[in-house]
Amino acid sequence: MKIAKIFPIEKEISYEFGEREIGSDKSISHRSVMFSLLANGTSKIENFLEAEDTQNSLKIVEKLGAEVRREGKAIFVTSSGVVKEPDDILDCGNSGTGMRLFAGLLSSQKGHFVLTGDKYLRRRPMKRVSKPLREIGASLDGRDDGELAPLSIRGGEVKSFHYVSKIASAQVKSALILAGLFGDGKSTFVEPELSRDHTERMLRGMGVEIVSGKEIEIYPISKPLEPLEIEVPTDPSSAFFFAVATAIVPNSKIVLKNMLLNPTRIEAFKVLQKMGTKIEFLEKSSKYESIGEIRVEYRPLKGIEVSENISWFIDEVPALAIAMSVAEGKSQIRNGEELRVKESDRIDAVVKNLKNCAVEVEEFPDGFEIVGGKIEPAEIDSFGDHRIAMSFAIAGLLVGMRVEDIESVNTSFPNFFEILQKFTKVEL
Ligand code: S3P
Repeated sequence: MKIAKIFPIEKEISYEFGEREIGSDKSISHRSVMFSLLANGTSKIENFLEAEDTQNSLKIVEKLGAEVRREGKAIFVTSSGVVKEPDDILDCGNSGTGMRLFAGLLSSQKGHFVLTGDKYLRRRPMKRVSKPLREIGASLDGRDDGELAPLSIRGGEVKSFHYVSKIASAQVKSALILAGLFGDGKSTFVEPELSRDHTERMLRGMGVEIVSGKEIEIYPISKPLEPLEIEVPTDPSSAFFFAVATAIVPNSKIVLKNMLLNPTRIEAFKVLQKMGTKIEFLEKSSKYESIGEIRVEYRPLKGIEVSENISWFIDEVPALAIAMSVAEGKSQIRNGEELRVKESDRIDAVVKNLKNCAVEVEEFPDGFEIVGGKIEPAEIDSFGDHRIAMSFAIAGLLVGMRVEDIESVNTSFPNFFEILQKFTKVEL
C-alpha cells in the first residue's frame, strides 16, 4: 500500500498553472473515445486524459474494433462506425462512467460483451442502467439480477423510450442517450435536475439530432456519426483541489488556465466563492464547450449550507468538506445521497476521516454538518477513493497529514503529488 506524508506549507501559494499542467477533463476524455467508435472515419482528440480510468476506455474501444494511433499530444481513433464483437472481457477498472456508458452503447450492438471492473466498481449499483435498458429490450444481466458487475450483454434491437429518471445522473442519461441512437423512433429522457451535458453537446457536434432541455429528445441515427475533432480542456474537478488549497492557505493566489467552464461543472468554485474566496471566471473560447481561466485568491472562509444542484459539484464535495472544516461557523451538505455510491461511500469516508482530524462533524443519510475552525493531523484512510486521498492531502498543507492507500489517484490525476510537491514537502 502506498502512503503519502504531507508536511505543512511554509509560505503562501502563488502560482500560475501551465495550460496542460493539470489533467484534461475525465468526462470528456471518456466520451471522446467512446463516441469516436460510432463514427465512420478518423477522430482527432487532443489532450486526452492519460489516466487509468480513461486509458481503460481507450483500450476497450480498441477491443471493439477501432484503431488507435498516438502522435504528439493527439490521439487518432479510426473506426468504421460498426462495433466488433470482442474476443475477451472489457475491463473498465475503477470507472463507473466507463461501465455505465459502455452498457448503454453496447446494448444495441450486435454481439456478446462482458463488462467488468476492479473490486470497488464491482460493488457499485448498475441497476440504474440495466433496468431501463432491459425495459427497452436490451438483453443485459449481472450478479444480483443486473445490479452488480460483471455485466453480460447480448446486444440487439432496442426500442425507443420515454424515461423519467429519479436521479440526476449524467451516467444514466448518457447510457440511455447512446441506446436511443439505435432506437426505432424518437426517444425522450427527463431528469430531476440537469446533470453534466457533455454527451448531448458532443453528439450534436457529431451530427446527431438531439434536443436539450428539461426533456431531452433523441432521434435515431441512420448512418455512422461524423468523426470528432476535439481538444479536451482541463478538468475543473481536478483543478478544484488546488482552488481549495488556495482558499485555506492565507495570502495564496493561483491562475488556472484552459479550464472547462461548463456551468454544470464549475458549481464547486461558485460554492467556494460564496464562502468568501475571491474567484473570477474569464471565458476565452468556445467550441463544444466554454473554455477559459479561473483566478482564485485567498479570503477568510465562512460556513455555508448547500442542498441544491448537488449533481453539479458531486465530485468536489470531499474537497469542499476540507474548506468547510477551515471556515468560520457551521456548514452543511444535504440532498447528497448519491455521494454514498461513488468510488467509495463518500459521506462515510469524509465523516470518518474528519473525525480522525478532530473536526466536529455530524453525519446525515444525505450529507453532513461540519463545525469549522479546527483541524488536526491524522492518518487518513482513502477507502481506495482518489478524491478522498487528494482532498485530505490538500488539508495536509495546513497541518500535515499521512494519507494511506493513494494508488487510486492514478485513476484521474497521476501528477497530483508532483504538483503538490511544488508547494510543500511530500514524502511518497
Ligand atoms: C460523470 C458523472 C457523475 C460523476 C462522475 C463522472 C460522467 O456521475 O460523479 O465522476 O462523466 O458522466 P453520476 O452520473 O453517476 O452522478
